[in-house]
Amino acid sequence: MFIGPIMREQQQKSRVPAIKTSTISPPTAPKSCERPQQRRKAERRDLAAKRPARRCRSRMLQRCARPKTACRQRAERLDILNAELATRAAVLEKTNIELEAFNYTVSHDLCNPLTSINGFAQVLMRICEDQIDEESKGYLKGIHQNSLRMQRIIASLLDFSRAAHVDICRKPVDLSEMAKAMAAQLKLSAPQNRTTFRIAEGITCAGDAGLCHIVMDNLLENAWKYSGGRAGTVIEFGTTELGGKPVFFVCDNGPGFDLAQAGRLFNPFQRIPGMAAQGHGVGLATVKRIVKRHGGRVWAESSPGQGATFFFTLE
Ligand SMILES: Nc1ncnc2c1ncn2[C@@H]1O[C@H](COP(=O)(O)OP(=O)(O)OP(=O)(O)O)[C@@H](O)[C@H]1O
Ligand SMILES: [Mg+2]
Repeated sequence: MFIGPIMREQQQKSRVPAIKTSTISPPTAPKSCERPQQRRKAERRDLAAKRPARRCRSRMLQRCARPKTACRQRAERLDILNAELATRAAVLEKTNIELEAFNYTVSHDLCNPLTSINGFAQVLMRICEDQIDEESKGYLKGIHQNSLRMQRIIASLLDFSRAAHVDICRKPVDLSEMAKAMAAQLKLSAPQNRTTFRIAEGITCAGDAGLCHIVMDNLLENAWKYSGGRAGTVIEFGTTELGGKPVFFVCDNGPGFDLAQAGRLFNPFQRIPGMAAQGHGVGLATVKRIVKRHGGRVWAESSPGQGATFFFTLE
């Protein structure tokens, strides 16, 4: 084919860029230029280089994941335990509320019929006094005395129940005056009792007057009841200090008790077997409840034949 000079020039011009493009090819061009064998070899080399890194990474991930999983498992277990605990606490609280309500209702509702029984027995005694024999009079007296005893038990249970729920209204309370009034009342109730009271002056606290009254009443009555009232019996009410805070105490020189028993005496219906005088076993449990509700503590010190001292604090 004939090629004129212009055409040749144009061809040459167009060839130059063709040569140029083949020399400035993209980076992949050499690979594509490689033979298949060489390419496979290069790929295998690449894979081999990547594999250890991949394995290493997965091992690292496993190592990182393991503590995380253990932690997560522990946290989940803790969540489950906490949920179980919360459920049990809620059930327990509900049961306690029901028990308290039951206790209060039973105690409260027993009062009225009991008062009626007592009243009827007394009326019967008055009306029939001349018509019945001594044995029958004894039965009527028995009804009267036992209904009074039951009234006292109910009153104790009501105090015990109220001590848990009643709102605390803190005010300055004169414990010395309270103790003096109680001592006078106890002496009036049994003039033959030879007990001497020593009550320190001016002891006050910040507490609920009604509840403090129950505490003082129980401790002084116990000291009075269990120390026996022989000549030389002394009951003391005073205060001391522990860690800069006041500690109140009621002390007697009666028969005392083994200190090993002291802990359980603050639980309801616990009494020391063999004691001459016996109560219902609710007094000290009520004292503990009240003192606890005031943020305080109550404890006893005693040994057989050496008297007993009951201490309490009211935060
Ligand atoms: N001052 C004391 N000296 C010796 N023993 C005591 C004294 N105070 C309490 N106790 C013993 O502790 C027991 C429990 O006392 P608590 O006041 O709780 O019940 P109680 O006096 O038997 O009955 P309640 O007070 O309910 O009428 C008593 O039964 C008694 O055995
Ligand atoms: Mg008592």
